[in-house]
Amino acid sequence: MLKDLFIGLSQNQLLNSAAKKYGLKLGAQSVVAGTNIEETIKSIKELNAHGISCTVDNLGEFVFKKEEATEAKEQILNVIEAIHENEVDAHISLKPTQLGLDIDYHFCLNNLREIVNKASRYDIFVNFDMEDHGHLDPSFDILDELSKEYDNVGTVIQAYFFRAEEDIQKYQNYRLRIVKGAYKEPEELAYQDKKAIDANFIKLIEWHLLNGKFTSIATHDHNIINHVKDFVKKNDIPNDKFEFQMLYGFRKELQLQLASEGYNFCTYVPFGKDWYGYFMRRLAERPQNLNLVAKQVFNK
Ligand code: FDA
Repeated sequence: MLKDLFIGLSQNQLLNSAAKKYGLKLGAQSVVAGTNIEETIKSIKELNAHGISCTVDNLGEFVFKKEEATEAKEQILNVIEAIHENEVDAHISLKPTQLGLDIDYHFCLNNLREIVNKASRYDIFVNFDMEDHGHLDPSFDILDELSKEYDNVGTVIQAYFFRAEEDIQKYQNYRLRIVKGAYKEPEELAYQDKKAIDANFIKLIEWHLLNGKFTSIATHDHNIINHVKDFVKKNDIPNDKFEFQMLYGFRKELQLQLASEGYNFCTYVPFGKDWYGYFMRRLAERPQNLNLVAKQVFNK
């Protein structure tokens, strides 16, 4: 119920544009690294100091105008420049819809090409985040197109999709982030039951660890993390073949612990004024995150 409510709220364009005007509110500041690049670089340096690398996401949703997509592209190019100049350990995560996928396929392809090209010159990896089912095929198509020219690209496999097993085999030669999946998807396309999603998640992680290129295991679920730790040990999978990933601000102690145990660890660092949809999806995943909101509202 709460999950559906927050997913619904995350898709509300009016609230989204209103939130942009007011800076980080409602507790979003504990899960969003900053509203500008300078603040974000500072957060990355702090994480790097603990041996944690970062993947930086310039937040943005509901992009239906070319000017907005171009603005997002420029901002991401600036982030790449800042990563290079500051010599921080970070790469880029981006959402194809923010770069114009809902406007025009070739316009989006060209925006992404410009980003991947600049990142490639600085040896910076670019991850294409995966969104809802309607955007999967064009996002994979762009990835395939750009991988003919560049090798610094990879993407995400969402375990709730029935098609995920086929996709992971098809894209095994990419560096892949494997996640459970964050959007509300129809029953005909995706598992709805937590147990089924978890089981598929583990199956995909194990398969890619054994067969694929580098694997990013993106989850806050300690049961899955413990399972992966046992699995890599039993199967002699070296640490440089995988990393754990979590979102900025979540389970900070576990993030530090995994890094200090010698595992590669990468924190997903979102930043920017367009924090609303991202924040609502986090509330949908874990209504306990409402504590963040409550603390902000009552600790005035
Ligand atoms: P889940 O929410 O299923 O929780 C499982 C258990 O873990 C809980 O019952 C609890 O015990 C524990 N737990 C979880 N969060 C906790 C917390 N904050 N504190 C204490 N215990 C906690 N999705 C997508 O569709 N496309 C994408 O590109 C991405 N990208 C992405 C990157 C990264 C780095 C992450 C971490 C996640 C994504 N996601 C994503 C989101 C992903 O699909 C998923 O929705 C969330 O990670 C939530 O699922 P979890 O596996 O983290 O745990």
